[in-house]
Parts: sequence; structure tokens; C-alpha cells
Amino acid sequence: MRLIFRTLFFALFLQFTNCSDKPDKTENSTPPVTPSLKTTYSKDFTIGAAINEAIILQKDTLALKVLKRDFSSITPENIMKWEEIHPVADTFNFDLSDKFVALGEENEMEIIGHTLVWHSQIGPWMNTLTDSTIMAKYIKEHINTVAGRYKGKIHGWDVVNEALNEDGSLRESVFLKVMGDGYLPLAFKQAAEADPEAELYYNDYNMWKPEKREGAVRLVKLVQESGARISGVGMQGHWGLEEPDLAEVEKSILAYAALGVKVMITELDITVLPNPWDMEGAEVSQNFREFEGDEKMNPYASGLPDSVQLKLANRYTDIFKLFLKHKDKISRVTFWGVGDANSWLNGWPIRGRTNYPLLFDREYNRKNIYDSVIGLKTQPNQKLAL
Ligand code: XIL
Repeated sequence: MRLIFRTLFFALFLQFTNCSDKPDKTENSTPPVTPSLKTTYSKDFTIGAAINEAIILQKDTLALKVLKRDFSSITPENIMKWEEIHPVADTFNFDLSDKFVALGEENEMEIIGHTLVWHSQIGPWMNTLTDSTIMAKYIKEHINTVAGRYKGKIHGWDVVNEALNEDGSLRESVFLKVMGDGYLPLAFKQAAEADPEAELYYNDYNMWKPEKREGAVRLVKLVQESGARISGVGMQGHWGLEEPDLAEVEKSILAYAALGVKVMITELDITVLPNPWDMEGAEVSQNFREFEGDEKMNPYASGLPDSVQLKLANRYTDIFKLFLKHKDKISRVTFWGVGDANSWLNGWPIRGRTNYPLLFDREYNRKNIYDSVIGLKTQPNQKLAL
């Protein structure tokens, strides 16, 4: 009897998940029956996506539809970075960021600001500064103007991004070279002043590595001990099918939560492509031109084999199981993109590849991973199969 029941249940589940592979393409159709990601996880954490210019400008209508249905939080993939929003010392471009914030407000989404102080994609004149007082003035001005403009509208800011080396020491960025570690408390204090209600985060990649974890703990303490406010730590999730070991991810979640701050998984995407140079993380300046056009480095240009698809679904399931285990510490899980077609991992660290890192395929259909991640909540004992 139990067997019959379970078989029937599984058949129903399959039918249910099959339907979900074909979302309606019309704007005004009746709402699909499948629960959305954001509603399924609403009691656990918000589910976010990084969004690009085409989505913000509402040109990519399929992506927009998926975004509204499945995500409760948005992060701008590029348009709030220093070089975009403040390309010249006396010029700010708020056109796209205003639209980004309006989109979030219209759809009652949690709006995340990314990012205020980062050595990469920075206003070019900042790299030429040598005087710490002048640099401090520019940092304050930048934070005041950008965070101040959206005061009360941004849920949380990535105040400082990627300030650590892999061994946990502070990165020799232009900020550190000119100002020493004082730029860290300065940035957090200024952000708190510009937007007293916003949550303030430190965000970085490879935050699961033991040495980097210790460095991040030291960094958070340095900010806390300076009297500045820091609300959370963002662990970028640019991960692979095998790496990192989730036991290390778990240790980091626990270590950051023990500091009394929230933990967020901020940039989740899982690469399925070869990585023979043993590189981990997301150092955006790394590029491997010699591999461009090399078919061995781009094995799935015409489609992802079922076996790899299943591996990816299993990996996502294990990852989300861990997130659920620590849902009391994790406040948000943000994917770095909506669909595979526009993921930055098609172009980094080797340009022109075809990657499959997200929950929606190139046409914004839900992949089997989507069903697995939803199934974790609705069918906790399901066995994954294609
Ligand atoms: C990436 C964007 O996705 C790309 O479009 C851009 O060319 C480079 O930056 N860590 C971060 C993100 O904090 O801002 C980066 O985003 C990925 C790594």
C-alpha cells in the first residue's frame, strides 16, 4: 500500500515538474501552479538575483518575468559599481541606478547595493591618488552621494568588496596602499551615516577557505572594534561541481555568525567547465587568453550531457541542504544572474565559452535543478533523476 502511494506520489511529482519546464510566455496568462522559488523559501531566506542592464531597462522581458515570479531580492550586476556610477571625479550617472531601485520598489523586492568600495571597476582617477586625506575625502564623497541618494530604499549595501588576499592578509589595493587599513572603518562609518537604516556588509569570494575565513573574521572585528556598524558578511558563491568542500563552507557560516552578524550567500553560480589551471574564486582580473577557442576548454558548446546536468542538480541540492540547515544564520541567497545565457561565466575566466551555472536555461525555462531546489522543501525525501 505504501509502495503504491509512493509511486503515485512520484508520478504526480514528475508530472508537476514537467509542467514547470514550460513557463507561459505571455505576460497576462494565468499564474502557473508550480510554487515559485521565493515563496517556497520565504520562511527561510530571501532569494536574490543579480540583474543586468537589459533587465533593468525592461528590455529582456523573459528574464524580467522570471525575476518577478521567482526572486524576492535584486542586486545590480554592474551598474552601481564605481566606474559606472561615478566615472569621473565630478560626475555621477544615476540614470540606470534610479531605474534599478524603481524596479525593486515597484515589485516590493529587497534591494541590494553593490558595491561602494572595491579596487576593481573603480573610477580611474582613484588609482592615481597618493595622498590619504584626499583619498578619504573621495571615498566619503562617493559613499555619501551614492548611498545617500537611495537612503531608506536600499535594504543592504556591499560596503567593501574583496579586501582580502587568499591567505587572509589585507589586499594591497590602492586603498590599503594609500590609507592603510583605516579605509575599512571609514567606509562603514560613512555608509552608516549616509543611510542609517541600511544593512552594511563585507563581501568577498573564497570565504570558505580557512585562512581567508580567519582574515575575514579579523576584518569584521577591526570594523566592530572601531565602533563602526557592520551587519553582515557576504560569501560569494562562485563555486564548482567539486569545489569547495561544503564542510569548509559550513565552518565559515558558523564563524561569521559567531561574530553576531548575518551571513549571506551573495553571488551563487556553479561552473561546469574545466578549470585545469587550478584556479578557485572569482578574481575578475584573471583572464586566460591562451585558452580562447580551445574546444577542450569548452566541451558543452552544443548542450550539457545528462550526466553533468544530474551532477549539477545534486550539487545544488547539497548546497541548499546546507543553507537550510543554517537558515537561522543565512538571510539571503543571491544567484549571480537569472539565466545561463547572460551569466558572466560564459566569458570569465575564458571568453566565448558556454556555461550552465544557474537555475534557468538559455530560454529562461526552469532547469531540473530548479525542481530539485524546490523539491528540497516540498518533497524532502525525493531521489534526483532526470
Ligand atoms: C562581474 C560581472 O558579473 C561581470 O559582468 C563584470 O564584467 C565583472 O564583474 N565578484 C563581484 C562581482 O563582486 O561584482 C563580479 O561581477 C564577479 C566577482
